Amino acid sequence: MATLDLNNISKSFGETQVLYDIQLSIRDKEFVVFVGPSGCGKSTLLRIIAGLEEATSGSVVIDGEDVSLSHPVDRGISMVFQSYALYPHLSVFENIAFPLRVAKMPEAELKERVARAADILQLNDKMKLKPAQLSGGQRQRVAIGRSIVREPKIFLFDEPLSNLDAALRGDMRVELSQLHRDLQATMVYVTHDQIEAMTMADRIVVLNQGRVEQFGTPMELYHHPATKFVASFIGQPNMNFLPAKVTDTDADGLSVKTEDGLQLKIPVETGSASIGENVDIGIRPENITQGPKGLKLNVSVVERLGGTSITYGRTDAGSRICAALDGVANVREGETTELTLDPNDCHVFDASGTVMRRLQAPEISG
Ligand SMILES: Nc1ncnc2c1ncn2[C@@H]1O[C@H](COP(=O)(O)OP(=O)(O)OP(=O)(O)O)[C@@H](O)[C@H]1O
Ligand SMILES: [Mg+2]
Repeated sequence: MATLDLNNISKSFGETQVLYDIQLSIRDKEFVVFVGPSGCGKSTLLRIIAGLEEATSGSVVIDGEDVSLSHPVDRGISMVFQSYALYPHLSVFENIAFPLRVAKMPEAELKERVARAADILQLNDKMKLKPAQLSGGQRQRVAIGRSIVREPKIFLFDEPLSNLDAALRGDMRVELSQLHRDLQATMVYVTHDQIEAMTMADRIVVLNQGRVEQFGTPMELYHHPATKFVASFIGQPNMNFLPAKVTDTDADGLSVKTEDGLQLKIPVETGSASIGENVDIGIRPENITQGPKGLKLNVSVVERLGGTSITYGRTDAGSRICAALDGVANVREGETTELTLDPNDCHVFDASGTVMRRLQAPEISG
């Protein structure tokens, strides 16, 4: 059992504030991913949880106990870093056993724990090798093994896969998800890769300039982004945004006219929206289809992936659009095509980037 509560965590380095009032409750056995652009404060927050960095204010609570002043080794957590500093002169076995040797664990128990970790990570036949004789992915598994043998309450990972090539990252993603299921442990994982976040997380924390933009399941973030920032960060290829003006508001939603003259009525709560107000219409590439009476697109590039044709271009008013069209779509670079946007798939963001809530939230699962 390991819950983790962060209460009003703020952090400044000298004059510079890098974290603002972070409030998060992470459940037992949950896999939570912190995601956000470089410099948004992900590692700093993780290091505060680990006790490697002290918060300027706020508290870290593990299993109901305030550990803000506890030494890192007394917090029952273990951290895996991007650069997996293994000892080159030690075997895989000794690298994994290292923290247990430091803790002077009796040999029999030590062997048992290392064997169990090796089993989980499928390193059994590598135990006598040195790190230099392993692949990048195997080395990262040794680093994770060193974490596992300590049997921490909470695992912390700081971009553990970013030194690996794309194919290996994909494999390790699956392995880490499997590891999470096997160990039934609480895990907090930092990455700036939204695919890692979407595929591994039970819930995702999107950080932007030291603030939590949104905390929710991958599907909540995808279908109901709270802000334009989250909308543009989650989903691949990225969401498109069309500048528009509000032309009318009523109980059924918001009428807008885009810069390209496209008129849409979008079923959102109009709240305090006023006629003439500037908004951004967000639409995902996978929600755009070819069809008449839509948006004219001047096609610049078509990427044929087989099942889909990722089509890039600009509207006459200059908005960039990416549409994930059918694999056999009739589009050609240098020509134009018409695109249809279903208002039910459109998101509306006000000038501050805050979403206008949908009138009828579509069902989501996961
Ligand atoms: N020891 C430090 N002293 C001063 N500023 C620091 C220190 N550590 C981090 N910062 C600053 O805090 C901010 C957040 O850094 P942090 O390392 O948490 O970002 P990050 O989200 O992990 O980024 P990345 O994805 O690049 O690893 C940055 O602006 C960074 O310059
Ligand atoms: Mg970092």
